[in-house]
Amino acid sequence: MYDFSGKVAVVTGASKGIGFGISEMFARNGAKVYLVARTEETLKAAEQKIRAAGGKAHSFTADITNFDQIKKVIDQIYINEGAIDIFVNNAGTYKAVTFDSSPDEIKHMVALDMLAPLLISHYLIQKAKALPDATLQLLTVASQAALKTLPNGLGYGTAKKGLASGLFEFEQQLLEENIQNVKLYRVYPGTVGTEDVMKLVHQGVLQNPTSLESVIDTVHDLLAGRTPTRDAYVGFVPGEGIKRVYYDFDVRKFSMLQEHSTVIVDKEFDLKK
Ligand SMILES: NC(=O)c1ccc[n+]([C@@H]2O[C@H](COP(=O)([O-])OP(=O)(O)OC[C@H]3O[C@@H](n4cnc5c(N)ncnc54)[C@H](OP(=O)(O)O)[C@@H]3O)[C@@H](O)[C@H]2O)c1
Repeated sequence: MYDFSGKVAVVTGASKGIGFGISEMFARNGAKVYLVARTEETLKAAEQKIRAAGGKAHSFTADITNFDQIKKVIDQIYINEGAIDIFVNNAGTYKAVTFDSSPDEIKHMVALDMLAPLLISHYLIQKAKALPDATLQLLTVASQAALKTLPNGLGYGTAKKGLASGLFEFEQQLLEENIQNVKLYRVYPGTVGTEDVMKLVHQGVLQNPTSLESVIDTVHDLLAGRTPTRDAYVGFVPGEGIKRVYYDFDVRKFSMLQEHSTVIVDKEFDLKK
């Protein structure tokens, strides 16, 4: 396991599921972890669980869709620690909200799964640019729905695709400005066997979950620099098992649409001289 000692890590959506698993992994390997979620009771219970196992944990309640709230938390951690080494954009939904859902549900999902992590990332990048000697590793938990179209994906998939696209816009900006101290990572899990998801698997609503541990291990390996690229899918593929795919798209190669394009240069509409 990689030694995260001395690192300050922040995880959104850290009170349960994937976010809690990632937080535990950081603490087990020496990092000081700041847990963020909305509900104080479950958040404190998660913090206590990590402390009881000997880890260093603190928590802040915030709704990430309220930018002022999460900005205050980030600012406070900068005041406490001087810098953030690792930030994990994890809070989001696993439920398939579609365009047949109510407009309020759709707006909430877009706010939570796309807009909030992009605003947070933008803010963190600005903070990190002001501290060029400190490195920020910014990892976002997207979804397989960002990579392909899925049944019921219309809505959730749209938000996650927008999220991944926005992060690549940031990659482009970092490249153009030659910013070396910010590294972006994306993980695209298939269905993950968290406690809540396993209830749905047992009811037959969801199928083929990958283990929570496989996702946490992928996050570990990405941040430890042990992967060929900074973009990883992890999921259970029937007939094959739990599989990781590392995508070879750095921003200069990345495009969701261009790979199989047909290019036509149309002279007919050239501007008349
Ligand atoms: N589970 C899957 O199958 C799966 C598959 C692919 C991708 N993902 C992605 O993985 C991430 C985590 O999913 P999960 O299944 O672990 O979720 P989960 O078990 O439902 O946990 C969600 C966590 O986020 C917090 N949260 C929710 N809304 C929030 C908000 N507005 N502000 C701050 N915290 C908030 C929750 O606590 P509070 O409610 O107290 O705030 C909780 O700690 C999501 O981005 C999801 O899209 C999940």
